[in-house]
Amino acid sequence: MTNNRSSFLRAINILFFFTEEVVKYETATCAWPELKQYPSTLRRIETDDRGHTRLALLRKAKTLPSPVCCCCCCCCIFFSNLQAMASAVSFPPANVQMLQGRSCHGHAAFGSCSAVPRTGPRVRSTAVRVSSEQEAAAAVRAPSGRSIEECEADAVAGRFPAPPPLVRPKAPEGTPRIRPLVSPQWICNVVCALHCNCTRLNLRPVCVMCVKDMEKRPRRNRKSPALRAAFQETTISPANLVLPLFIHEGEEDAPIGAMPGCFRLGWRHGLLDEVYKARDVGVNGFVLFPKIPDALKSQSGDEAYNDNGLVPRTIRLLKDKFPDIVVYTDVALDPYSSDGHDGIVREDGVIMNDETVYQLCKQAVSQARAGADVVSPSDMMDGRVGAIRAALDAEGFHDVSIMSYTAKYASSFYGPFREALDSNPRFGDKKTYQMNPANYREALLETAADEAEGADILLVKPGLPYLDIIRLLRDNSALPIAAYQVSGEYSMIKAAGALKMIDEEKVMMESLMCLRRAGADIILTYFARQAATVLCGMRSK
Ligand code: PBG
Repeated sequence: MTNNRSSFLRAINILFFFTEEVVKYETATCAWPELKQYPSTLRRIETDDRGHTRLALLRKAKTLPSPVCCCCCCCCIFFSNLQAMASAVSFPPANVQMLQGRSCHGHAAFGSCSAVPRTGPRVRSTAVRVSSEQEAAAAVRAPSGRSIEECEADAVAGRFPAPPPLVRPKAPEGTPRIRPLVSPQWICNVVCALHCNCTRLNLRPVCVMCVKDMEKRPRRNRKSPALRAAFQETTISPANLVLPLFIHEGEEDAPIGAMPGCFRLGWRHGLLDEVYKARDVGVNGFVLFPKIPDALKSQSGDEAYNDNGLVPRTIRLLKDKFPDIVVYTDVALDPYSSDGHDGIVREDGVIMNDETVYQLCKQAVSQARAGADVVSPSDMMDGRVGAIRAALDAEGFHDVSIMSYTAKYASSFYGPFREALDSNPRFGDKKTYQMNPANYREALLETAADEAEGADILLVKPGLPYLDIIRLLRDNSALPIAAYQVSGEYSMIKAAGALKMIDEEKVMMESLMCLRRAGADIILTYFARQAATVLCGMRSK
């Protein structure tokens, strides 16, 4: 406590020390290498009224700063800390490091200190970096060993010391010596002619030895962490993640064998705990999957729209405890069907489309009535999005969104999920309604239909093996795109991680980033909490 207070006071002191009176140099008269010898605490970039930028050298204040400035400095420190705290959860990786204290150290103030009275053109200070304790000590002397006053005097008189010699790091023994990369074009042509054994110069427009090839060096933009962060095209934050939750009527959390780290959560107990922990790291979206006792399953899956069933009860509980979360639901009959199919099965094994859609509408309305924010038909029946939209609107649920499983493939990656809910089809497979994994164009037909029927979000499932489909939807629709990193994808990463074949955490983060890069706005993933924990700069285990 005392420690914190004293370092806070020291930080203010340091600010006062350097913000008042300044000696300025026009950029034209002050070469950068010379300025470099002064500790960064003593330099500042300023812009005047006419938009001219210059480098300023800060000098010890002769008088105490005015109370207005004091206030301003305190505010700067206070706000920058606040900014760092407030961004704890929603900032992308480049910024997350700041929260881990890696890159925000010593950066105690941004913004202007314009309350300081000045003469001449009004100068706006764009950035002041306050030194850390060590830097403050070093600030008394420049790296050259001379005092700051001596350095300043020299700089004012235009006496700049020679820049330090350029040191070329040594290559290891045995590194081949290659010819200079930049040579006059004619040398290159001769080399080219000799090399290619041709009789006339300039025969080939491009030669393998030609310097031209080496002028393109994309590695330049990857040479430092700061540059890599600056040019990073895709980011991910906990706000992009939705956590699927398995729920059951029991009180205990039952581990799911094929999905290490996942449980069928006891409603009320483990469920609330899991939501609480996920929210703590910035995950605010949840999708519910119920395990229904066999006794409640039927061929027509009527339990799906029981207003007092497990899902509606859970929605009410969650909305009551955490009113600000987004609750997504699954709209399909499989957890409620004694046949384990997403729709009603006819005597001859055919999945009945329109009759199923009728049941799905009742299911979606029941979920909306309980307080669901987004209903998500995952059944792949034709025409269900339009029908559900009409049913919701008819009941006054205009604000309830539809996230349609637009391109849901008949995939073997769903295996662990079906084990978790005991929802394996009792016979046959789901190929008459889910899409053929070999198909690409067909996803466009589904996209057009779902858009026309009023879907609010389009989902692709599975995720990583179907990145091309995510990109296809992203490029062909203006609607938000969701990707579902399904149970099999999760289990593969977990299993390989447990066997130490891969680095679980890194592969997890990379796979999620790739889904974002392909075009997914949100990702449904069993890794949501673990990944968000990493994004917040905390240890995931
Ligand atoms: C069923 C449903 C499934 C999944 C989500 N909803 C399984 C299936 O279609 O058979 C799979 C999710 C996963 O594997 O993680 N409506």
